[in-house]
Amino acid sequence: MKRIRLGVNIDHVATVRNARGETYPSPLRAALLAEKNGADSVTIHLREDRRHINELDLNKIIKKLKIPLNLEIAATKEMLKIASRSKPPFLCIVPEKRKEITTEGGLNLNHNKNFLKLLIKRLKKRNSRISLFIEPSLKDLEKAKRLNADCVEIHTGKLCNLINKKKNYMKELKKIQKAVKKGKELGLEVHAGHGLTYSSAKILSRIKGIQEFNIGHFLIGESIFEGMPSIIKKFKKILKS
Ligand code: PXP
Repeated sequence: MKRIRLGVNIDHVATVRNARGETYPSPLRAALLAEKNGADSVTIHLREDRRHINELDLNKIIKKLKIPLNLEIAATKEMLKIASRSKPPFLCIVPEKRKEITTEGGLNLNHNKNFLKLLIKRLKKRNSRISLFIEPSLKDLEKAKRLNADCVEIHTGKLCNLINKKKNYMKELKKIQKAVKKGKELGLEVHAGHGLTYSSAKILSRIKGIQEFNIGHFLIGESIFEGMPSIIKKFKKILKS
């Protein structure tokens, strides 16, 4: 069985740093620690309001990291400029609302379609692998394919919420299962992310075809108690089984 790759999202190391306006804890140090302990990639989300990661973090991390950096950006002119300049190996296009606490849903692929097309074309020319963060919707998978994305990342937030609240999650899980199948049929690489914990990662890792998980908030939170190397090891064990 093929192992699912683990992308470690370190945004919330920057959240803690920014809470005090200090220079520590260092997102670069976290990225290198994740690399050293078996992460397959490191993810950072450069938000419009720079509430966690900033451009200095991006520049430092991209210079030092040997595993791929996955940069999450909104489809805006500013982010197109930054991504064109920094040329991260992986890019994930996400929706962004200023007032949200976290990325609340998948991209609306009907909105700003021409700009999205242009952004994908330009960034693919710079050799970035392009992923679109979408809801588990068959229509959106077809749209992602038409937009010439390389991958899709399925928003798992709703499923994870149901699992956390011990509610029935079977309907949402089946939806994701169908979406993964459709993605594979279309020749897209399929990833999953948002809200993942040990239990939701375990449940989702049983779906055949998901190639990458991106995990942040829970992984960084648990690292406070046990250290990042130990938490990465636990997730990697789940993704291998
Ligand atoms: N994937 C994408 C596209 C995201 O926007 C986020 C949140 O920034 C994550 C994964 C990670 O979500 P979480 O921090 O809940 O693990």
